[in-house]
Amino acid sequence: MSAEHWGRRPRDWADLAEPSNAPLFERVLGVVGAGPGTSLLDAGCGSGYALRLAADAGCTVTGLDITPELLGIAAERVPEAMLVHGELDALPFEDETFDIVVGFNAFPFAEDPTRADGEAARVVRRGGVVAATTFAEAERNESTALHLALEPLRGRRAENGRHHPYALSEPGGLERLLGDAGLAGVSAGEVPLVWAHSTVDEAVRAVLASGGGAMAIAAAGEPAAREALTAAVARFTDAAGRVQMHNVFRYAVGRRPLP
Ligand SMILES: C[S@@+](CC[C@H](N)C(=O)[O-])C[C@H]1O[C@@H](n2cnc3c(N)ncnc32)[C@H](O)[C@@H]1O
Repeated sequence: MSAEHWGRRPRDWADLAEPSNAPLFERVLGVVGAGPGTSLLDAGCGSGYALRLAADAGCTVTGLDITPELLGIAAERVPEAMLVHGELDALPFEDETFDIVVGFNAFPFAEDPTRADGEAARVVRRGGVVAATTFAEAERNESTALHLALEPLRGRRAENGRHHPYALSEPGGLERLLGDAGLAGVSAGEVPLVWAHSTVDEAVRAVLASGGGAMAIAAAGEPAAREALTAAVARFTDAAGRVQMHNVFRYAVGRRPLP
């Protein structure tokens, strides 16, 4: 997936989408031991919400992303971070650079997720940890209804392409990814998330700001994408117009073996 898909509406992504995943970021940063004296790379850092949490926990933080517009917002959120424009599949860092590498909801969008996770394992030090997160299975996420609403608009090519948000969502998918990269002692867990918006318009804009939203707009135009999302979000909307979607995310963590 290219940068243009994630960079069309960076403010909406930063303000309406990324904060919904805060409990996931907090849980995983705790599991990996993010804290004073540790160096952390967030691979696919987006607009830097998780980087802010890691920096506040005391980490020295580096973020990498393919989308310059999101990195621009990350620079505002986390001025102390080193931010690098680059690809998950070819990380521009020396071997064994970081104590911790996290990939929050990013590896499914890599050109080759296995290669990208191999890169994460390469740049973490021996004895350091790598964590990856993504949606649990599609049927356990209410927001899947919104992805499904956009699929007919995007057309067959995008629908069948390899950049699917659920590419690693089958049970064991993340654990296999980390194991294949040579990481050991892999453990996994789940975090329930409530994606809450005060209006239907905010919920729709959050999805339009994603890569999938941008692809639907490019293929069918914004009015059609808005209409499809507004219809799909109706069943998650209360009488006051507030939206809540209950989702489940999964994470896996593995350690690079010592020599
Ligand atoms: C679903 S967003 C996740 C953002 C943030 N980590 C979060 O969890 O909210 C996917 C992110 O991956 C980035 N991305 C997609 N393909 C990429 C690639 N090949 N290399 C680097 N970043 C990529 C996008 O720009 C976007 O910031």
